Amino acid sequence: STMPLTRPTSHIPDAAWTSGFREMTEPWKGAVGCLGVAVFFAMTIGIISWQALEQSPEEWVLRGHAGGMLWERRRGALLLRALPAGRTVAVIAVGGVPATEPPPPRDRCWHDGGQFCYAWEEDAELRLSLEPPPAPATECYGVRWTPLRPDVMLKDCFSMANVSWYGGASIRAQRWPLNGAESHAQPFVSGDFSENPAGYGPVSERYFLGSTGVTVTVVPDVPLFLSLESNRHFCLETPAGRAAVPLRYLLCISPDVAAAHRHAQTLRLSPPRRSPIWRYYGPAGSAAKIKRGLRSLAKRLKRHHLQEGVLALGERCTAILAAADHVPSERRKRHDSTRAWDPSLIKPLQLSITLSPYTSIASPLFLRSLRDSEAASYWLSLQPRLGGCSVPLLTTWKGRLCARLNVTSEAALSWYLARARHLRQALGAAYVVFEGAEGNAFLEQAIPPPAELVGDRYTGALAEALATLGNATVISAGAR
Ligand SMILES: *[C@@H]1O[C@H](CO)[C@@H](O)[C@H](O)[C@H]1NC(C)=O
Ligand SMILES: *[C@@H]1O[C@H](CO)[C@@H](O)[C@H](O)[C@H]1NC(C)=O
Ligand SMILES: *[C@@H]1O[C@H](CO)[C@@H](O)[C@H](O)[C@H]1NC(C)=O
Repeated sequence: STMPLTRPTSHIPDAAWTSGFREMTEPWKGAVGCLGVAVFFAMTIGIISWQALEQSPEEWVLRGHAGGMLWERRRGALLLRALPAGRTVAVIAVGGVPATEPPPPRDRCWHDGGQFCYAWEEDAELRLSLEPPPAPATECYGVRWTPLRPDVMLKDCFSMANVSWYGGASIRAQRWPLNGAESHAQPFVSGDFSENPAGYGPVSERYFLGSTGVTVTVVPDVPLFLSLESNRHFCLETPAGRAAVPLRYLLCISPDVAAAHRHAQTLRLSPPRRSPIWRYYGPAGSAAKIKRGLRSLAKRLKRHHLQEGVLALGERCTAILAAADHVPSERRKRHDSTRAWDPSLIKPLQLSITLSPYTSIASPLFLRSLRDSEAASYWLSLQPRLGGCSVPLLTTWKGRLCARLNVTSEAALSWYLARARHLRQALGAAYVVFEGAEGNAFLEQAIPPPAELVGDRYTGALAEALATLGNATVISAGAR
């Protein structure tokens, strides 16, 4: 190319010279510029990816003394971690918001060291707070989800990986711990297995205990659904529907499971202290098997330092023990296995037994009553129109054909109450639970009930009589 600088400059006007110089230097400058921009981009990308790599997969969101909560980006989960060892005691997968699109744990409540807040735009707001501890070694965190749209369904799932969970509700196929249990999401309220076998049975407390020393407590006034997915997790959910309700619970960590359970009892959130109820679902083939099963359950509980509480026997097991109790004592002595039940073997656990106004027609109790004209009138009967003898009204209860106590007969009631008192004493039971008080046996078979038993009068009469048994009596009759 030409070299303009070699031209005699005196003949060339300034403007022409500068423009010529510019033409000459442009390609070089452009290349440098391009390179600069490229380097800048490369550095920016480098810095961004370095930051992304450096960004830890989990980040502290709330820190106390004994532990704290972290946000795990990959899973969209809250972790509860004990300090100083750094042991993760609970993993809570967050299901109500798009949590796996990692939100930065940016704290809206940064000015308050005891709180962490974050809002998923138009979905829900999360507020974590340090709560007053129930005991020096225990630390508690409040978790509160507030929906920001009416149709948001909040769902927090507690992982069962490396944690055995106890508590919750009883289900028909009970598992202990509840890791093996399975249930679809349904209201976390006490139900009746005979009405709804797939539902929850007695719900003593909204309380879960994890083997890592963590407890989950839900206040009684929060509407709550519970689902159990065996060996994966259990989930606390808010009901789906028009009214958006917050999901609130309290997490506490203690040095171990026994301390956690002890300290949970002092929490004001849980209802006035009641003992945990451990339902017996062990071997039930004979009285001897039940006694052995109860002793072994008591031993297992003691091993976990869970010796305070109630061992609850269902109706069938109670009936088997009651039948063994009836065996005359001279026969009993010869058979070691039918020896009277000794409640001190499970101490300090208490025993609760279950009775109902139903008696299987195959049971020795019913067969004995047939031989005794007075006892035969203990059951609800169909009165013959023209003389003749009355026939017991048979109904099904828990899949068996049964006769039902005649609550309008004074003789029947006093016999029944005396039997309940005797069994309570003979089996050393601290509590007697009565099931099956509800329902109208006549209407169930489309037979018009007698005047004294129309509507709910049966339930009312039975409940009134059972109340005389004292404050260790539990009557579970559905209210309208
Ligand atoms: C469970 O514990 C085992 C052994 O300590 C460990 O390898 C595994 O990562 C743990 N799993 C979870 C989900 O924490
Ligand atoms: C219940 O017992 C009373 C008194 O024995 C009797 O009058 C009544 O007919 C019985 N009711 C039924 C439904 O069996
Ligand atoms: C139940 O009654 C017994 C004696 O009647 C009494 O000692 C006990 O305190 C009562 N318990 C409750 C919880 O009211």
